[in-house]
Amino acid sequence: MPKGKEVKLDQDPSVAPGGGLCQRLVLLLGAALLLAFVYQITLPFMTWHDFSDQKEECDLFYGKWVKDTSGPFYTNSSCKFISTPQDCLTNGRPNTDYLYWRWKPYGCELSPLDARKFLNYMRNKSLVFIGDSILRNQMESLLCLLSEVEEAVLVYHDKSFQSKTWHLPSYNITLGLIWAPFLIKSTEAISKVDLQLYLDALDDTWTSQYKKYDYILLSGGQWFLKETIFWENNTIVGCHYCQGKNLKELGMDYSYRKALQLVFQFMSTSDHKPVVVLRTWTPSHFEHGEWYNGGICHRTMPFKEGQYNADPVDAIMRDLELEEFQEGLKNGLRLRLLDEYHLSMLRPDGHPGPFRTFHPDLSKKPQEDCLHWCLPGPIDTWNDLLMELLVEEEALRAAF
Ligand SMILES: *[C@@H]1O[C@H](CO)[C@@H](O)[C@H](O)[C@H]1NC(C)=O
Ligand SMILES: *[C@@H]1O[C@H](CO)[C@@H](O)[C@H](O)[C@H]1NC(C)=O
Ligand SMILES: *[C@@H]1O[C@H](CO)[C@@H](O)[C@H](O)[C@H]1NC(C)=O
Ligand SMILES: *[C@@H]1O[C@H](CO)[C@@H](O)[C@H](O)[C@H]1NC(C)=O
Repeated sequence: MPKGKEVKLDQDPSVAPGGGLCQRLVLLLGAALLLAFVYQITLPFMTWHDFSDQKEECDLFYGKWVKDTSGPFYTNSSCKFISTPQDCLTNGRPNTDYLYWRWKPYGCELSPLDARKFLNYMRNKSLVFIGDSILRNQMESLLCLLSEVEEAVLVYHDKSFQSKTWHLPSYNITLGLIWAPFLIKSTEAISKVDLQLYLDALDDTWTSQYKKYDYILLSGGQWFLKETIFWENNTIVGCHYCQGKNLKELGMDYSYRKALQLVFQFMSTSDHKPVVVLRTWTPSHFEHGEWYNGGICHRTMPFKEGQYNADPVDAIMRDLELEEFQEGLKNGLRLRLLDEYHLSMLRPDGHPGPFRTFHPDLSKKPQEDCLHWCLPGPIDTWNDLLMELLVEEEALRAAF
């Protein structure tokens, strides 16, 4: 299987480094100011949620990770869908403590995804994941979880193996994965540098397939942090992270907000009304640097509540998602939120780190991946949540 290209993309955790030293300094200063500002505005927000164990009200997205000796439902040997860079076991990750945790929401339990139940529920239906390599990461987790009962058959892939379709024959279920890292139109397919983003046009890779699906899971991600030039109405209106180009810096939140608005606008005007799940921003856990300058993630335990500090950039992106999600709800969409932000934030131990390659030579300080997730790993919980949301959605519909 020509996996080369796919792997290469996975190895690019997505943020383009800037230009010269001078630009970096300006950026650093900017980042410091931003950091100070964001801490000011997010501190009250962080304490706003009552994290106490006593709270009995069930919220699937708030809770803690508890030790669980039962371990994952699949392994590197039982599942064939795991991409090499996330196959931490095969790649030789020595510490496997990260496999023995279970998400425990306050006030209730989250059931692990029951493959048979999921397949029965989805019989004759179709589900598509639209987004970037983190969505692919989650799709591979889902394929692994389902493969205990039935192995999906690949029935379509595009030239670069980025978009794929699987079929589960005994259940007549279609699972799609559509590569659309910005959700909106961009020049990403042509070149990863000098990216042009069209803030008033959607990426037709997914809009052309939209009507085929009953369920949609979508998300934006770290691609919005890249150097990008923004177009609106056939005119360059500004950019993000493009010092030296004499363009107005509008921020990575500007393009992401526009993208979500456009997506929900498209969906609300379409006569096709699938159930749409917005998956929240996924936090990265680079420490002592960023992905391109030696950042690492060597932790072997989840964080406890209050032990971490939200990355200011992650916090900004997540907040705007929540705002746009609320706006989307007003448009009468069948919209649900898969809010993995908080529970993922608590899992700095769940990333491949240096084990994104086979038995890396640690003495050479290989570039680490602290953004994608090991399979099996904490990302399996996202699919437990997805199952929960879909079942709830069905119950809601039945009630009317
Ligand atoms: C799974 O990982 C273990 C090491 O944790 C390794 O011994 C085994 O060969 C791997 N299985 C496959 C199919 O690669
Ligand atoms: C699935 O489709 C087949 C053929 O159209 C039909 O016989 C069956 O009842 C359907 N099952 C469900 C659960 O909709
Ligand atoms: C499979 O499901 C599709 C809907 O997704 C339906 O149109 C088709 O009739 C089903 N085929 C069979 C053989 O059940
Ligand atoms: C787009 O540009 C055209 C002319 O270039 C102008 O007439 C129109 O008002 C613009 N539309 C928006 C939404 O800015």
